[in-house]
Amino acid sequence: MQIFQKPANKVGGEFSFDGDKSISHRLVLISVLLRYEICLSNLSRCEDVKTSLKAVQKLGVRVREIGDFTYLDGSEVKEHSTDSEPIELYCGNSGTTARLLCGILACLKGNYILTGDESLSKRPMERVAQPLRRMGVDITCSNNDCFPVIIKSTGKTKSIIFENITNSAQVKSAVELASLALCKGEPPTQIIETNPGRDHTARLLKQINLKQPVIKSFTIPGDPSSAAYFAGAAALFNNSSVNLKNILLNKSRIGFYEILQKMGAEVEIISNNSTYEPYGDIVVKGKKLRGITITGDQIPTMIDEVVLLGIIMSFADGISEVSGARELRVKESDRIAALIIGLKQLNIICEEREDGFVIKGQNILNGSLKSNENILLKCFNDHRLCMSFAILALKSSNGLLISDSECVNISFPGYFERLKNFILE
Ligand code: S3P
Repeated sequence: MQIFQKPANKVGGEFSFDGDKSISHRLVLISVLLRYEICLSNLSRCEDVKTSLKAVQKLGVRVREIGDFTYLDGSEVKEHSTDSEPIELYCGNSGTTARLLCGILACLKGNYILTGDESLSKRPMERVAQPLRRMGVDITCSNNDCFPVIIKSTGKTKSIIFENITNSAQVKSAVELASLALCKGEPPTQIIETNPGRDHTARLLKQINLKQPVIKSFTIPGDPSSAAYFAGAAALFNNSSVNLKNILLNKSRIGFYEILQKMGAEVEIISNNSTYEPYGDIVVKGKKLRGITITGDQIPTMIDEVVLLGIIMSFADGISEVSGARELRVKESDRIAALIIGLKQLNIICEEREDGFVIKGQNILNGSLKSNENILLKCFNDHRLCMSFAILALKSSNGLLISDSECVNISFPGYFERLKNFILE
């Protein structure tokens, strides 16, 4: 469905957000391996996390929703023989469900077949299969790298030394989860990373005992990747500000906010507390922005915000450059190509690079970019592109049409309604 996003002159407000999607996935998926019930509050209500919930239900987890709480009970999850009928687990659009599930299934004896939607079916799975195979898991990808993925699991694994060359947090998590089933006497698995990304799995595993409850209840802090669109929009307008409440402040996730500050926006990070993950409030105010260079070592801490940064760079003074971001080409769409196509439709001077892009910013804090209502930006059913293009539309003179608007439900149901409330003038 196409949506017309109208322009704005001023934005502002105070918002809280559903729980972080990455942490939500991990808590839901790990419930398969827990022999007791956990209680989650502020679990993300997005489509991707619903996909993880359905998958764990199929494996035998009992899911109850009472008010704002979600109870997950893995005590009835059963192992199966390795020659039983395969259990099909549908992973929808969710790379996180697919890749983390591979690690979980390595710990649960049985036969499984993982399937996904059109976009997920094109995404690389060998990156997870390879280390798991070295850990002793019988795992096969179709056409060498893709879905369906077939796993015959004995429920026991061997330890490895794993070099995470793509810096993927999903792959790292799969290896960490599979290591929960190491055979007796195996040394711990070692993971080597040059530019470490999100560490939510390791943090959770420190809190969890598979057999006996240590902590049974988890409040999930607001998703910094969802909040980023509102922070980015506030940064683009004079006299505009946003107060983002109870946001996850894990260092491996807030690179975008640090870059926004370096570009000249006023960004205040107020830490509230730290439980298993740190959280707090973020206040962002619009100021004149300058261009910036981002290199590969910084990418993992802002991997899901790079497209949005591309939009913000289009309004900053001077040249901005992103390199070392090749991973964006294997996300829900080829995000580098799609961003550049969109920016060029608005005559923004930019260039696609194999591992990033260069943008010549227009430096317009008090004004908008010339557009006409007939421009249709294609987001290739990719939620992050769709939400980023909506921020571009706010800064356009006449608004913009954006394709596939329903795809925002993948990570942020209600996004466009929120954005409507955010526009003050
Ligand atoms: C995620 C890791 C990142 C990120 C994705 C969620 C996670 O993917 O882009 O949205 O929850 O671990 P990669 O691990 O492929 O970089």
